[in-house]
Amino acid sequence: MESLKTIWSTVVQEAVAENVTLDDVYQLIETPKQAGHGDLAFPCFILAKQQRKAPTVIASELAERLHHPWIKRVVAVGGYVNVLFHRNIIANQVLKQILDNGSTYGSNSSGNNANVPIDFSSPNIAKPFSMGHLRSTVIGQSIARLAEKNGYMPIRINYIGDWGTQFGKLIAAYTLWHTEYDTKADPIRALFQMYVRFHKEAKHTPELEDAGRQWFVKLEAGDADALALWRWFRELSLESFNHLYQRLNVSFDLVRGEAYYNDKMKPIVNELKSKGLLEESQGASVVRLDGEVPPCLIQKKDGASLYATRDLAAAFDRHTSYEPTRMLYVVGQEQALHFVQVKEVLKKMGASWADQVEHVSFGLLLSGGKKMSTRKGHVVMLEDVLDEAKNRALASIQARTPHLFEMEKVAEKVAVGALIFHDLKHYRQNDVEFSLEQMLTFEGETGPYLQYTFARAKTLLEKGGWSEADQHTITEIDEEAWPIVKALEEWPAKIKQAWQQTDPSLIARHLLSLAKAFNTFYSQVRIIDDSANKATRLTIVWTVATVLEDGLKLLGIQAPEKM
Ligand code: ARG
Repeated sequence: MESLKTIWSTVVQEAVAENVTLDDVYQLIETPKQAGHGDLAFPCFILAKQQRKAPTVIASELAERLHHPWIKRVVAVGGYVNVLFHRNIIANQVLKQILDNGSTYGSNSSGNNANVPIDFSSPNIAKPFSMGHLRSTVIGQSIARLAEKNGYMPIRINYIGDWGTQFGKLIAAYTLWHTEYDTKADPIRALFQMYVRFHKEAKHTPELEDAGRQWFVKLEAGDADALALWRWFRELSLESFNHLYQRLNVSFDLVRGEAYYNDKMKPIVNELKSKGLLEESQGASVVRLDGEVPPCLIQKKDGASLYATRDLAAAFDRHTSYEPTRMLYVVGQEQALHFVQVKEVLKKMGASWADQVEHVSFGLLLSGGKKMSTRKGHVVMLEDVLDEAKNRALASIQARTPHLFEMEKVAEKVAVGALIFHDLKHYRQNDVEFSLEQMLTFEGETGPYLQYTFARAKTLLEKGGWSEADQHTITEIDEEAWPIVKALEEWPAKIKQAWQQTDPSLIARHLLSLAKAFNTFYSQVRIIDDSANKATRLTIVWTVATVLEDGLKLLGIQAPEKM
């Protein structure tokens, strides 16, 4: 079925044919602010300008000429043409599609199975998993699911930060001070404390920096002691990351750190040289870039490679391995310049695919208006945050449903769902104020609210004896159910849009509209009574549950059947 918006655009475009394309019309279509005014509206202001007539005149002329079997009424209001669809016809179409397709409703195959490497999460070893990495993880995994839903093959890559001068510093710090710390009980914390101390003391003791640099040179040269320590840091960190990923229900197709590209950088540097792109600048090697973009640092004075060098190698590797159509990097806004530089260098190297590189950037997680930071020793441990969220969820559930089966498991799903939804309901570029209290309320615009709505729908279906296996015909649609049908109808278009714009918040917000429409319906209509409409009402409940569950899954959130 074509979307109502497409149908309405087509009807309008056919009537005004001359100067406007279907796409132009589609872009203009609005939803009337007052529901009573109709389902969709076409504003006539641009046409009016073109034809030098009053918008109201255009609107009334146009209204006379618009017909379609699914359209019940067309009315001109002000400079707008408003349309009202036949509720029963549309509801039949929409509900039947969901009945036929179940959770694949809204999927499309526009991706033709093309590969899309998605670089996300990518925390740094020997450091706590930061709140920034949490955002990347949550946004990245949702975008990967959106890719699938649109017929692409996501390749989920965890590009662990496991190489770079900081490991020289860490080895220096470790060799100096490790006996003073308890590296057994909580090794990551101990390592991080040494790292923080290193930075503090290096301010007064510049020799420390030299020692750090030397250790990194050794590490890059393959020194056995340096490598052994590095491997140990890496294993410890991966173990603790994996524990988090399990809780967050996140998985990767590739866990590939920066170190993986160590032997892949030389060819890049050579190519840069042979193409005459590498210049010397104060002993270091850089690629000069056009316009305002500062030069990209490729090699330090001492020959050490850099973050950008590794990203260049990784980009070439991804390009040749997967022949993708889009290459996504879900990384915070503060790295915008880095990605501009990498892309510009790729272009200078003649990589025709450089424009496929997309930095999917996002804002900060704030606490009390300030960045939630792991620097300067002020560490917010994600594991602690999750535990606290779970305890709060458990308390709320206990108060609401004291005898709930498998309460602990449900509480974990609610806590994780709350955390994820709180992030994804905001447009990713915006900063997000982190509030456990807010994200865990069952009544606001929260994950638990959606999970609870899903569970309510499931309970209704059970009580009403609705079964998927039965034959379902749709009779009269209650007026109160129309906003639900409309939200369901818009679902496939939202899925496309959210993928194109790599914007999971479109999904999150749409689920909120659907849930609100459903809860209003629930409060206004007795769903389970002995009227002839009971079966149709329950079918609506089932379609809501199906889309809610699938939508939550697209966000990476599990929906318990009972809570
Ligand atoms: N590890 C980096 C950081 O924590 C993020 C890596 C992002 N991915 C990339 N290909 N550069 O800042």
